[in-house]
Amino acid sequence: MTERELVDKAVAMLAYSYAPYSKFPVGAALECAGGAVFTGCNVENAAYGSAICAERTAVVKAVSEGHRDDFVRIAIAGNSEDYCWPCGACRQVLFEFAPDLECLIAKKGGDYVKLPLRELLAHGFGPKALL
Ligand code: THU
Repeated sequence: MTERELVDKAVAMLAYSYAPYSKFPVGAALECAGGAVFTGCNVENAAYGSAICAERTAVVKAVSEGHRDDFVRIAIAGNSEDYCWPCGACRQVLFEFAPDLECLIAKKGGDYVKLPLRELLAHGFGPKALL
């Protein structure tokens, strides 16, 4: 799959976002080594703290379907003028499973930048510290 195709999958997920409170839709598409793609969107809640981000939706879908050690790329898309930078919690959750993940981060219109997760979460705390 091309980078563009993965980013487009993340953009397509904006349509499923449930963000009535922030009105800030986010979509994600997580690609595994074998080509499987798990998508996600943010899902908010009237109890604000119960919201889940798009990236973590995608990770949880993947892990619950038996994928956990084969993530290669994630695309994250927003509808904002700036790139849709992943929050700290999502960086941490991604780092747990794929510290060498490549991140494609898009903004309104679909333009994107590519960054390694290790740059987004420098000196991250991961399972190696505990296992
Ligand atoms: N959001 C994500 O889905 N991913 C991020 O990495 C940043 C924030 C969502 C959470 C909330 O629904 C909305 O964006 C505003 O914070």
